[in-house]
Amino acid sequence: MKKSLLIYLLILGGFSLYGRGTAPYVLQNVYARNYETLNGSWNHIVDPFDNGYYDYRMNINRSGFFRNQKQANPSDLVEYNFDTSPCLQVPGDWNTQDDRLFFYEGSVWYKRDFNFEPREGERQFIYFGAVNYFCNIYLNGREIATHEGGFTPFSVEVTDKLRKGHNFLILRVNNDRRPENVPTVNFDWWNYGGITRDVLLVSLPKLFVDDYSLRLKKGSYRELEGYISLSDPQAGVELSLEIPELKIKQTIQTGEQGRADFNIKAKPELWTPQNPKLYRIILRQGNEVIEDNIGFRHITTEGKKILLNGQQVFLSGISIHEEAPYRQGRVYSKEESVLLLSWAKEMGCNFVRLAHYPHNEHMVRAAEEMGLMVWSEIPVYWTIAWDNPDTYQNASNQLRDMMERDKNRCAVVVWSVANETPHSEARDKFLIGLANQVREKDDSRLLSMAMEVTGQGNNISRVRDNMSDYVDIISVNTYLGWYGGSLDAILSRTWEIPYDKPVFFSEYGAGALQGLHGEENVRWTEEYQERLYKNTIEMFDKVEGFSGMSPWILMDFRSTRRQLRGVQDFFNRKGVISERGIRKKAFYVLQNYYKSKDY
Ligand code: GCU
Repeated sequence: MKKSLLIYLLILGGFSLYGRGTAPYVLQNVYARNYETLNGSWNHIVDPFDNGYYDYRMNINRSGFFRNQKQANPSDLVEYNFDTSPCLQVPGDWNTQDDRLFFYEGSVWYKRDFNFEPREGERQFIYFGAVNYFCNIYLNGREIATHEGGFTPFSVEVTDKLRKGHNFLILRVNNDRRPENVPTVNFDWWNYGGITRDVLLVSLPKLFVDDYSLRLKKGSYRELEGYISLSDPQAGVELSLEIPELKIKQTIQTGEQGRADFNIKAKPELWTPQNPKLYRIILRQGNEVIEDNIGFRHITTEGKKILLNGQQVFLSGISIHEEAPYRQGRVYSKEESVLLLSWAKEMGCNFVRLAHYPHNEHMVRAAEEMGLMVWSEIPVYWTIAWDNPDTYQNASNQLRDMMERDKNRCAVVVWSVANETPHSEARDKFLIGLANQVREKDDSRLLSMAMEVTGQGNNISRVRDNMSDYVDIISVNTYLGWYGGSLDAILSRTWEIPYDKPVFFSEYGAGALQGLHGEENVRWTEEYQERLYKNTIEMFDKVEGFSGMSPWILMDFRSTRRQLRGVQDFFNRKGVISERGIRKKAFYVLQNYYKSKDY
């Protein structure tokens, strides 16, 4: 049969070479499943003109790079060869692996070969921790899915697509910035592109536990509630939940939808930053055994107070970008996550704002083990295309997947739906939709967003935001003394935040080149930054309902918006620690202040 006719029939048969929709599937607690890693060296081809995807008339090229063609005869024309192409390490951004890719934005093709031996009665999924920003996924030359969004996990079932023996997986990864993307074209961090988190080949039983939730029942300290759901709507399947330390072993059966809900009397030790107690839980379904470590706590507000387990708590925080210390680049490992969080602990933090996008799962789990509460955020940042329904759906997908992945992480106490977004009716509609999505899915965490000062005069900073009705805590970014106003003016500044809700300062700060010293009024000196921190804290302490802060930022980080030669050199220098891990004087201002906090 002629190739073109075969392709035509394939497309007619719905087996389009160019695939189906996005891959939204978030597998709960993937690291507890049976998997083999596909991390390591992947061949790659840099493709600025998408020559491997389109033909010269910009039609999708049926013989694109995803076919992984080889020259069979000496006369064959094949203008690419993955096997002779260089490798990139996965996980990892491409920008910091090859100087020629430092600023690169466009498409990069990745290829990984692997062998597979089918096993009776199993299903296989390929899991991606994150790919920034958009990707087409091809298995053995056929597109199996696409995904958009650079910071949330997804997986694709490949059970009926894997071959016995040799298989090859190809991704076309594109990190072009576009107005309709989330984030949009302008943001203050590096646009690290690539397969930036783990890739796993996960093997699961034909019928498997695909989701579960376990938490303290709202308003109770003596009852757990939750559910376990199966991959298929099979009723009457016996499941067991065991929490050995609480001497709990419950057997439950699934209902019609393949889901079992449960309530269990128990009085667990509560998770707190001082005592980050986690319980080993074991779920069983047939031969399937899934273990997790889950903590139990309540986070609520009462008027202008934030309460952790009913006790008022001050969020002694710091903001963190997912930027690797020393080497730079996207963080993807537990080791580097723990290193960054250990700096926050050393500073006396009990809270971290993981800005401005969902960080890798290792970071959230490490925060939970180390006793750090977490603010987790989707990159609805600055001038989003508020009127574009596809943009809204994209933001909603990223919010869904962030919440799905971390629903059992008690350390996550705040879901944030935005950062510094310009006021408009369209923006309010967009954000109200996201806020309602959070409310529908999760009543066990606080909802917030980083707002901005909306007016200032007579030495008063005012915050007025329609979203104040939808959030639990009023979070505000302020750069008084850096983007306007003098250091002295900070001390006489008062605030008007007319809402009976806790006030949280989600950002403030100043740039300082580590090691540059001078008078306090000299920009970029550590002394300027130190003085701004001291004066700002003094100002905040007078604000009614001041319940916490996450100064900007733990460590200097890469940004293409920071070009001052000899000072910034494409780093945002607002870190209280340099990218080489050296503390600046402002670090100790925070450390002293947080150590003085007794709640
Ligand atoms: C903003 C923004 C940050 C940015 C910071 C800065 O508040 O939220 O992402 O890095 O200001 O200007 O340094």
